[in-house]
Amino acid sequence: MLIKKPADIRPSEITSKDNYLNRRDFIRAGSIAGAATMAGPALGAIVPDARREKIGDIGTSIFSSDEAPNDYEDVVTYNNYYEFGTGKQDPYENAQEFRSRPWSITVDGEAAKTGTYHFEDFIKPFDLEERIYRMRCVEAWSMVIPWVGISLADVIKHLQPTSKARYVAFETLHDPSQMPGQRRRSLAWPYREGLTIAEATNPLAIFAVGIYGEVLPNQNGAPIRLIVPWKYGFKGIKSIVRMSFVEKRPQTSWNMAAPNEYGFFANVNPEVNHPRWSQARERRIGSGLFASKQPTLMFNGYGEQVAHLYDGIDLRRNF
Ligand code: MTE
Repeated sequence: MLIKKPADIRPSEITSKDNYLNRRDFIRAGSIAGAATMAGPALGAIVPDARREKIGDIGTSIFSSDEAPNDYEDVVTYNNYYEFGTGKQDPYENAQEFRSRPWSITVDGEAAKTGTYHFEDFIKPFDLEERIYRMRCVEAWSMVIPWVGISLADVIKHLQPTSKARYVAFETLHDPSQMPGQRRRSLAWPYREGLTIAEATNPLAIFAVGIYGEVLPNQNGAPIRLIVPWKYGFKGIKSIVRMSFVEKRPQTSWNMAAPNEYGFFANVNPEVNHPRWSQARERRIGSGLFASKQPTLMFNGYGEQVAHLYDGIDLRRNF
């Protein structure tokens, strides 16, 4: 196993934010190097042996959890990313050649600053921060992940939505030539998600561009994905190419697939079970198969920051 621990990383390997933003092809270079060493990973020996490029100038966040993050290997080999297959290791195995650079993001709908932006220009005005967040998947497992991201509220303020914008909708890239899962109808493509404007401008929501101080691996949603830590993980849409400010509640892929199982809000709620399993407890990935499950917290433990968003809303009906 050739995993570099932070202490092994020389300062010369750390990229300043400007370099990170100016070198438009670095992820491609990184993924080719990674693919060469990871070609044909053997089942049962799925261990990433190439770490990604470091990102510099990352601030810290008052919102970070003080829980110990999961091992890097868990975070990059146990994923949900149906565009690359429905198995947990499929994204790690199938996404290495995915071209996450060059990348552009289209902003449309009810906002002043609509248009198509290079990924680098899109994130440049904003401060990068590390946010250590718990991630609670709807499948009743969880992880603690040190994301590197920018505040979604800052991005939205910058894009100047009009008074008609009540929701923000997001879309993942649709490219069946690169995403084998999109050649099957496991979900309605492109993957779609949405938030109310109040949710999207809550200080906890971020666009993530990295993990563990490094550029985001493809299987985790490179180059940019959403993280909404008080909601089930499926709201964290990956590899975003479109952000739309809209008046009406947008459709979301999981809600379209099974409306009785996945609602629009998808707030973590131990009191509202999924129709096929309990949401009261969760298994922390990496704690061992026989470790006891831990109780799931309302709003994934972020109630102090977000409970007010749902005042007067019946969370049993609006799940
Ligand atoms: N985004 C896209 N485009 N496609 C997906 O299949 N899966 C979602 C979410 N974002 C998914 C997606 C689900 S179900 C979860 S739990 C999280 O991504 C998992 O994120 P992770 O693999 O980085 O832990």
